[in-house]
Amino acid sequence: MEKIQWSKGKKRGMVALIIIIVLLLIGGWYFFLGNRIPNVTGEVEKGTEETKSLVVYFSRSGVIKIDGVDATSSASLNLEDDNLMGNTEIPARMIQKVTGADLFQIQTERYYRSAFMGTSITAWAEEKFNMRPNLAAIPENLDQYDVIYVGYPIWWFNAPMAIGSFFDSYDLTGKTIIPFCTSQDNGIDVSMNYIREVCKDATVLEGRRLNNPSEAEIRSWLEELGVENEITETSKEESQEETVKTAISNNENYDYHMEEIWSENNGNRIYGQAYIPETEEKIPLVIFSHELCNTHTAGIDYAEELASHGVATYTFDFNGGSSRNQSDGKTTEMSVMTEVSDLEAVMKDAKTWGFVDTSRIILLGGSQGGMVSAITAARHTDDLAGLVLLYPAFVIPDAIHNTFSSKDAIPGTFNFLGWIQVGRNYATDVWDYDVYSEIGSFDKDVLIIHGDRDYSVDLSYSERAKEAYENCELHVIKGAGHGFYGSSFDEAMDQIWEYLAEIE
Ligand SMILES: Cc1cc2nc3c(=O)[nH]c(=O)nc-3n(C[C@H](O)[C@H](O)[C@H](O)COP(=O)(O)O)c2cc1C
Repeated sequence: MEKIQWSKGKKRGMVALIIIIVLLLIGGWYFFLGNRIPNVTGEVEKGTEETKSLVVYFSRSGVIKIDGVDATSSASLNLEDDNLMGNTEIPARMIQKVTGADLFQIQTERYYRSAFMGTSITAWAEEKFNMRPNLAAIPENLDQYDVIYVGYPIWWFNAPMAIGSFFDSYDLTGKTIIPFCTSQDNGIDVSMNYIREVCKDATVLEGRRLNNPSEAEIRSWLEELGVENEITETSKEESQEETVKTAISNNENYDYHMEEIWSENNGNRIYGQAYIPETEEKIPLVIFSHELCNTHTAGIDYAEELASHGVATYTFDFNGGSSRNQSDGKTTEMSVMTEVSDLEAVMKDAKTWGFVDTSRIILLGGSQGGMVSAITAARHTDDLAGLVLLYPAFVIPDAIHNTFSSKDAIPGTFNFLGWIQVGRNYATDVWDYDVYSEIGSFDKDVLIIHGDRDYSVDLSYSERAKEAYENCELHVIKGAGHGFYGSSFDEAMDQIWEYLAEIE
């Protein structure tokens, strides 16, 4: 037999290669084969007795040895009630609380390396090769569940592969899957294809990234998904209490945005702008009603001031409210009573807007809009939390009587006050109407603000209104006319904040 002759150089090369292979094997073993995770069972943490929903979640904190990790230096561990919680466990437990679902933590059979780099390399390889790490234990079956929430951290622009291991173990036919994630930067969209793939027999709803969410955010997400039936009655009640607890005040500053919202009344479209503070909580809503021959623009200063301190405000154009309005209708079709009807339509719609705390809707109206607000409030006491009237035009019935000697003398159209063309109904609607006998039906606190130099609507009209109400404060602004600007606007706003602070 021919003997292979190894040169010294070749021998050294071989030894080096063997050492590298051994090191790679040891390294591979080190990264992939952590110790077994002890004491894991397939038991779920029970939610409510009757629940048909399950929250499953995966979190790095459940698959690394915690003793080896310094909680303060690890971005993904949180100390909650003396327990270390991974980021994903926080929304998982909140969803369980809001829905009463059962809860289960997905854990792999073996630990990942505690160091971030160690976890990261294993996670990268698993993702790259679409691996399915073995799981320590899983519930025997998911037969009793209709809805499964699945939560995970984003790992390498995807869900961790353990999520695939979990779902591969079950028949998901007929089940609804609701994914949620936490992450450093990425949205949940990067993982949705994978989730749809591993849950292909189920209906997968739109997922949401829930980094440190509030319970209110979870409730509104479930409402958006159309699964509000998942929210327990207790959680709904708590949400009512939570919103009531946030007192209205101008102490806190909010960012806000403007949203154009259309309503409709009797086939006529109503244009309006909602100024909405940036918050996940449901918030009080002020509905501003403008003066005769004005538009939503009259309410913008109030809306911006209110929204910047956490109170949403909607200001809109009445149908036929002026020749410049963006809503339908002509001024010759408009009257105080058609505006009451418009405001009723707006109030009804506002109750369906997701951001509104429907227990705290407040009407704010100027001049004719004040009279309209007062009448509407009297007819919908139970739907409203408050009423603020700015120089309300309770003079209108008197002004009509001063213009015409009898109802028959009212023409088809006429120039009211010499500057706005209105129709006959503008006058006939209030000809026999006693506004003071109606407005007092609103039995909650009322604030009226009126200037003592108002030459369009005399202060005495508001003094009389004050008497009509059970609980009414009349604040007189010295030197202010029919409309508040500059310092009188500031004074009016101070009064409005004081009034709103009392609303529960
Ligand atoms: C291995 C690994 C990979 C990660 N990859 C991403 C990523 O691709 N995109 C991202 O936004 N965050 C990434 N993160 C950050 C985590 O998603 C984020 O910290 C998450 O909230 C951790 O949740 P947990 O504490 O429940 O594990 C990664 C974290 C780890 C450990």
